[in-house]
This record gives sequence, C-alpha cells and structure tokens, in this order.
Amino acid sequence: MKEIIELITEKFEEVFDKAGYDKKYAKISVSNRPDLCEFQCNGAMAAAKQYKKAPIMIANDIVAAIGECEMFEEVTAVAPGFININLSGRFVSDYVEKMSEDERFGYDKCENPETIVIDYGGANVAKPLHVGHLRSAVIGESIKRILKYAGNNVIGDVHLGDWGLQMGLIITELKERKPELVYFDENYDGEYPKEAPFTISELEEIYPCANAKSKENAEFKEQAHLATLKLQKGYKPYRALWNHILNVSVTDLKKNYGNLNVEFDLWKGESDADPYIPQMIEDFKEKGLLHESQGAMVVDVAEETDTKEIPPCIVQKSDGAALYATSDLATLVQRKQDFNPDMVVYLADKRQEMHFTQVFRVAKKAGIMDERTKLIFNGFGTMNGKDGKPFKTRDGGVMRLENLISEINDSVYNKIMENRSVSEEEARQTAKTVGLSALKYGDLSNQAGKDYVFDIERFASFEGNTGPYILYTIVRIKSIINKYMEMNKDAELDKMQILEPLGASEKELMLKICSFKDVMRVAAQELAPHKICAYIYEVSNAFNKFYHDTKILSEEDENRKSSYIKLINVTKDILEKCIDLLGFEAPDRM
Ligand code: ARG
Repeated sequence: MKEIIELITEKFEEVFDKAGYDKKYAKISVSNRPDLCEFQCNGAMAAAKQYKKAPIMIANDIVAAIGECEMFEEVTAVAPGFININLSGRFVSDYVEKMSEDERFGYDKCENPETIVIDYGGANVAKPLHVGHLRSAVIGESIKRILKYAGNNVIGDVHLGDWGLQMGLIITELKERKPELVYFDENYDGEYPKEAPFTISELEEIYPCANAKSKENAEFKEQAHLATLKLQKGYKPYRALWNHILNVSVTDLKKNYGNLNVEFDLWKGESDADPYIPQMIEDFKEKGLLHESQGAMVVDVAEETDTKEIPPCIVQKSDGAALYATSDLATLVQRKQDFNPDMVVYLADKRQEMHFTQVFRVAKKAGIMDERTKLIFNGFGTMNGKDGKPFKTRDGGVMRLENLISEINDSVYNKIMENRSVSEEEARQTAKTVGLSALKYGDLSNQAGKDYVFDIERFASFEGNTGPYILYTIVRIKSIINKYMEMNKDAELDKMQILEPLGASEKELMLKICSFKDVMRVAAQELAPHKICAYIYEVSNAFNKFYHDTKILSEEDENRKSSYIKLINVTKDILEKCIDLLGFEAPDRM
C-alpha cells in the first residue's frame, strides 16, 4: 500500500505536468505549519528560476489545474509561492479504513530483503551486567525488531566477552581459593566434574576481587596472564573450568536479558572467533598488509581524506596474543562464512568509535567483507545521573542492572498503589510491565548517539513523553472497546466502517494513523527507534485530544459510534505494534 504522501505526490505530478511544469517540482511534505495546513508543496518556489516566473504565479497555475478533486478539501496558493494542502476527510478515512483491513497496516515488506547481523548486548562473562550494557541491549533489540518487521532476515548476536584476561583472573583467583580442585592438579587425567565448582554469586564476587588484586599485585597479574594464554592455547583443565564459567554465567545472563525482553538468535562470543585467527593473520601476511611496529603486527588504515589521525590497527601483540580488534575481525570472517551478510550493525558505547573505524577498514582492505557489505557502528552515548555524571548507585558504585530495574519497578508500584485499588500481586505484575516501558522508552526516546539523563521520577511518570503514558493510552482504549463490546455482544470490528471525520481532532488522529508507514520506513532506514517513540507520543496525544472532545460510548448514531470504535481500535493496534518494535508491551489494566 502506498504512503499517503506518495499518493499526494503522484496527484501533484499529474497536475504539474498538466499545467506545463516539470513534474520533478511536485514534492510534497508534511506541513511545518500544522496550524495552516496538513501538507505542503514548495515546488513553485523551486520552479521559479527555470520558468522565469514569480513563484506565486506558478502556484496559482497549479491550484487552478487541480480543479475539483476528491482527494482535497482545500488547496491554496499563498505568497510568496507556497501551496497549502488539506486532504478531504473522506480521502483520509478511506485510507485509514484500508490500513485497518491489513494486518501490517499497509506497510509492505521490503522488496529486497537483506541479511543483517546485529551485534549487541556485548555482556562480559562472569561480570555482572551493568547499566553500560543496558543501552546496547535495549537499542539493539529494538533495531533488530524494526529491521525484521521491514522484512529483512535479521540475526541478533550477543557477542559475549568470553575470552579475555578476565578469564585468567578468575582462574588464578580460584586457584588461590581452592587449590585442591582437580583443575589445578597437573597429574590429573580423569573426567572433569559436570558440576561447576562455584555458583553465580560466587563468580560475581570472584571477578571484582581478582581484578582489584591484579592492580596491586604484579605477580598475581602475571599469573592471570599466563592462565589466559594457557586457556587460549587449549590447556584442557582450564578449558573445562572455562566451560563452567561460561555455562553458569550464560544461564544468569539469559535470565537478565529475559527480564528485559531481549532475545538473541545467537549466543556466540569472542572465543568462537578464535579458531579463525591464525588463517586470517596468514592471509593478511600474504596480502602484504602486515608490518611490524614497536614489536606488534599492525595494518595501516589511514586514508588520504581523513581529517583526523587514524592510527594503524594492531592485530597481534609482540607475544603473539590477539587483541580486541583481532577478535572482531575474526568474528567478521566467521559471519561472512556463516551468513554472507549484506550488513552488520554494532551497538556499543560511542567511545569505541575508533576501534570500529579501524576494524571496518581492515575488513574492507583485506577483503574479509566485500565493498557491498555495509558495516555500521551505531555508537550510543552515556547514561548519566541527574548530576550529569555517568549513572552510579547512591553510594557511588557501578549500578547493577538488576538493581536499576527493581528501583524503577518500585517507583511504578508505589504509583499504582497510590491511586488504585488492585491487589498487591496484580500491582507487582503490572509494575513490572510498566517499569520496563519506563526504562526502555526513557532510553529509546533519545537519539542513540546522545548522552541522556536517567531520571526515574520522570521516566516513570504517567504523564508527559514517557513509556507509562503510552501504556496508559493503550489501556484507556482497551477499556473503551471492552465496554463497547459488553454493550454490543455481537459487534464485529470487520463489519464496521470508518466514516468521514466530523471533528478536527478526529481527523487529526486519522492523519497521525496515516503516517505509520512513513515512520516505519524511516526508522528502518536510519536505524532509529527514537522516531517510533516520537510517533507514538504524537498518536497518543492525538487520541487523548480526540477522547477529550468526543463522547464515544454515548454517541447515539450507531454507525458513527462503531466508526469511532474501529478508529480507536486501529489506533490501539498501531500503538501496540510500535511498542512491540521498541521491545515492551502493555498490560490490560493499570
Ligand atoms: N564486550 C564489550 C564491552 O563490554 C562490548 C562488545 C561490543 N561488540 C563488539 N563486537 N566489539 O565493552
């Protein structure tokens, strides 16, 4: 189904042609003066030069050439040469009616679906998830859903940090605490136990402890290094331990991501790319890309057009060890082999931009990815506290994601208990659903690249540009529809007809519904969930205005009443689709 703007453009192209002007000037946009008109065409201004005429004369010609047309209520030429457009109510309601008949609201799947890998989450095994990982998970999940909905073949990969020094640190600390474990007995050659020698809470305590130790104790740090190398070379007992660390940690991560409504298609990690490294380095050598610099092996990636210095990408340290970049490159080798993607999108802190620039350039230079493959780094800003500094706990520590979530849920729970009389259990359940909307909408409504201030009070408010406000609107619509259905037991939405709008706010709501496809297309093209947030905020405002102006259930004309019901039903369906793309859902009541 065509976007409404396309339909107007087509009509205008016809009219420009008829009036003797090049149809390339028939560009239509949503009005930037909604107080004056709904859409506008500035083509007469642009055409003036070519035709050596005053813009207003051209605009007048166009308006005259339109004549009587069912599509418009009014088209006027205004000085110095704008064309203001208002659609006819009938045209708008027919369009919304057609949208409501289609499961996808007329949003066609893309003609050339792409295979897209999204690298997000990026949790580090054995380290607790903190708010830094929140943004990656929340934004990545939404982008994944948006691209899938557009019709692409999308693969979400959590890309765990499971291969670095933290593994050696944990192993070394464990050895000090429990030297009697078989993993530390060099002469042991039996089977290794199936049961992990630690729980998740022990593991979470071991890592920070080992990390702190390594900073003070050079010998400990050296041990950890050696353990990491041994592990990476495939030393069996450490491999067995590592498997335990991975399993225990991943089980916990799945639970945490699950609470966030975040799901990955792949649970790969840096370790999975490791086997691809030797061949890749060989390849770099053969292609003459490698050279030595201060003992390390590097690939030059600077380009003439660079405006700032892009240092060479280090792919191997002097001791032969791989680095972060090596691992990301080898992961691309693997992804190419497994999926041959058209696009790979990375979600990580924007401070990692240089790293990704280097990696992408090496990948292209070495032919790991061909030119057609888009490699995109979607760097996000920092989540700050009200003091403008990176978000911390009250006592200044790093905020754990779990605690953050429970703080939000408590805040919402208190609000629900304040003004409602639902059972505590129901309130708890609802608070979870609403809390997640507060958290995710609070994040996603900002352009990803920007820093934002995390303000629980504001995010959890039921009013203003917040997740709970959107949910509140959906719940309100559900309740009206339920009441209607109770009064009209055999009513069927399919049989109802959306009528020409009578009031201004009714038409305004319809117009908002009409732009759904336009918003979806832009959000997918620009990987921009915030565009969906802005859209549903507008739709919610338009609905609430309509609701305020209109007596829906006490309307006497049955056809009019069912038209209202069908209109608000499609409003609800669209809002629910949108929040699903953002990664949260609405309760039945709140
Ligand atoms: N594990 C990394 C971190 O915690 C993020 C990984 C981002 N993804 C990537 N392919 N490098 O900072």
